[in-house]
Amino acid sequence: MSELNIPVFIERQVEAVRKALGGEKALIAVSGGVDSTVSAVITNRAMGDNLVCVFIDDNFMRLGEPDRVRATLSSQPLSLPVKVLNEGQRFMDALRDLGDAEEKRKAFREAFYRTLGDAAEREGCRFLVQGTIKADVDETEGGIKTQHNVLEQIGIDPVERFGFKVIEPIAALYKHQVREVARHLGAPPEVSERQPFPGPGLSVRVVGEIVPEKLDELKKATAIIEDGLKVHSPDQYFGAIFSGETSEAPRALANDAAEALNADVSRVEALFLGEKATGIVDGVRAYGHVAAVKVLDPSGGLLKLGYGELETMRMTVQEGNHNVTRVLYFVGGVERAGYTLALRAVKTRDYITASLAEIPWRSLSEVSSRILDSCPKVSRVYYDVTPKPPGTIEFE
Ligand code: XMP
Repeated sequence: MSELNIPVFIERQVEAVRKALGGEKALIAVSGGVDSTVSAVITNRAMGDNLVCVFIDDNFMRLGEPDRVRATLSSQPLSLPVKVLNEGQRFMDALRDLGDAEEKRKAFREAFYRTLGDAAEREGCRFLVQGTIKADVDETEGGIKTQHNVLEQIGIDPVERFGFKVIEPIAALYKHQVREVARHLGAPPEVSERQPFPGPGLSVRVVGEIVPEKLDELKKATAIIEDGLKVHSPDQYFGAIFSGETSEAPRALANDAAEALNADVSRVEALFLGEKATGIVDGVRAYGHVAAVKVLDPSGGLLKLGYGELETMRMTVQEGNHNVTRVLYFVGGVERAGYTLALRAVKTRDYITASLAEIPWRSLSEVSSRILDSCPKVSRVYYDVTPKPPGTIEFE
């Protein structure tokens, strides 16, 4: 869809939804994000009170998010009647002991649709409306990752498995088009311009195994990162937390980094983090090592690198080490055992490719200091310098 005529699009979708539902009740899970909100408003226009909106509090939301979202969506002009479902324990149980990214996503998806299946049964709904967009379908079909909201396109029959038929009013749109539709519908900027937040929420940003303490530290760090980086207006910006286990990266990797920067290898610290992260190699999903690099200047301080130098270093490291999907550069740390936090900030239009947001290093340092002060279980902060491809935006 190149040129989108928004009023016509809305009118057609309202009509299509009305026809598909034939006067029956439908359920939608809203998250506060632009995709589900636009889908809910279109459906609400088509069928009014026959739409049941639920917000699933799965414990993987940001601090204060369930209350904020309910307040925004239920106020004018959207006026969606939102019910909050407290399902945190169900999701924590479903993800317990899982460390592999795809296993976590699949377990999340199962818990998500079971929750919705239960709600649909309680509410007497045979239809589920979803805010799936074009990029979700493309990436799941392309095997990059299992988007939590894509079912039929990968051969899962939702009627048989969960008891409802799925309707997706905006599946033909890209993100920027969904934002245009949202503005046209009168959505407030905190919805229409809101940065994407993945359906599985912070569960994909607690890299590897989820434990409550790790999740709590990430929630605090996320609030600091969003507050500290928003002035730079990246299209998406967040943090991800790793266990803090590390091993020394192969000598060749440290040599590659040193050579790219014209630095003495004795001043390069190159680690592999304890968990793997996703990336894209030759168009397909890869799950590989996260290389965390720190280089000292001759006086022993952190070598401050420009974004050009960081990119040269990142490229050299990945060209020489095909099992590395991400390269991080050190921002700050304190001498204590603790988790490792990776900052991520990207510029993108379609979320299918993304370049690095060139955040001034001083801002990254300030955010890092605030995190190290407020999150006593975090000991190191890095910036992810990998564009997409060969990285992905999220780490899992
Ligand atoms: P990746 O990590 O694939 O992310 O580069 C692309 C965009 O999609 C978001 N994302 C998701 N959104 N369910 C969603 O609704 C998911 O499972 C999911 N995974 C990633 C991600 O935040 C980025 O905006």
